[in-house]
Amino acid sequence: MAEDKDKPETGAPGEDDRIGLERQAADSEHAAKLAGDIPPRTAPDRPAAPKKRARGRHGVIAHEVPSTGHEWDGITEYDNPMPRWWLWTFYATIVWAVFYVIAYPAIPLVNGATRGLLGTTNRQQVAAEIERFDQANAAIQTRLASVELSEIPNDPELVNYATNAGGAVFRTWCAQCHGSGAAGARGYPNLLDNDWLWGGTLEDIHLTLQHGIRDPNDPDTRYSEMPRFGRDGLLERPQIQQVVDYVLSLSDLPHDAASAAEGAVVYAENCAACHAEDGSGDRTQGAPNLADAVWLYGSEPETLNRIITEGPYGVMPAWASRLDEADIRAVSTYVHGLGGGE
Ligand code: HEC
Ligand code: HEC
Repeated sequence: MAEDKDKPETGAPGEDDRIGLERQAADSEHAAKLAGDIPPRTAPDRPAAPKKRARGRHGVIAHEVPSTGHEWDGITEYDNPMPRWWLWTFYATIVWAVFYVIAYPAIPLVNGATRGLLGTTNRQQVAAEIERFDQANAAIQTRLASVELSEIPNDPELVNYATNAGGAVFRTWCAQCHGSGAAGARGYPNLLDNDWLWGGTLEDIHLTLQHGIRDPNDPDTRYSEMPRFGRDGLLERPQIQQVVDYVLSLSDLPHDAASAAEGAVVYAENCAACHAEDGSGDRTQGAPNLADAVWLYGSEPETLNRIITEGPYGVMPAWASRLDEADIRAVSTYVHGLGGGE
């Protein structure tokens, strides 16, 4: 290695020459300086690029871009113009905005907005659409509201229309309580099964909807009231426990057999008038079947205890004051067609 260092450099003779020349020049400059005689520097071989001109990326001569004068960490912010296409798009949006403000409702005012020359509004369009549908359905709505109720199931066109329209009514007015799929919840009956409190024929459902159940504002509402056996002191606590066991025994749920036997007596004296001897219920009073697996309020012993002590009092609003006859018939047909209709 040391040997190599002593050898004359053969790799880059040009480089060496240049360094030698530069050193010579510097030496002579230094000598001149000492002598107080500094010769003017020789002009560079290549003329400097003219001011304001520079070579572009592809070798094209371009105007040197003026700087905005901002510089951060050696990065200069140039004052480049926006691309043409961008500028034209920008101007086009301004022209469009002016056109839009003149032609369409645009500027909000205290009541509404400026109308616009074309006079179209979304509100108007919606109203027109609704009007169009109402007109298209007017004939069948009138027919639905005026035929004999019992005739509806025999008219496939009416059934088809009523089921669709009734589905929409149901989703708007009934789903909050009965669930969007009509499967109900605690205290709100399932409308899909064939277990009915007040009856499952189209006429029964129609009447239930028109006048509601225990609606204090409708004199013709479906009405009945199970006594508050515990609260009003009609039965003693042990008697209530016995009749709970008896009710559980009616649908083969776990119960105390001895207690249920006592409960049978309590039941016959206090409950059979409404819920029937065998517990099958009574639709004329909206008294549920206690012998099936379907429960309105629940089958847990605590729930039964509470129901018998406090007395249940389910309320459904009457719909005749809110919906027109065609809508009530439509939703009655819809509910009747859900699977449990009789
Ligand atoms: C505020 C809650 C509520 C809304 C809204 C409501 N219901 Fe009811 N619905 C009830 C309750 C509670 C009962 C049960 C009442 C009872 O205990 O006898 C009931 C009972 C019924 C029954 C009788 C079921 C049977 O077994 O006899 C039908 C049918 C019915 N609803 C349909 C509808 C329809 C259709 C709508 C929409 C137009 C609707 N309900 C809206 C609460 C509601
Ligand atoms: C005057 C009639 C009447 C009498 C008497 C009566 N009930 Fe009821 N019972 C009803 C009615 C009506 C309902 C439904 C109330 C409602 O829908 O809110 C009901 C509901 C029930 C329920 C709730 C059922 C369910 O599916 O969740 C139970 C349990 C019940 N009764 C048990 C009894 C027992 C036990 C007795 C006797 C101690 C009794 N009832 C006496 C009318 C009566």
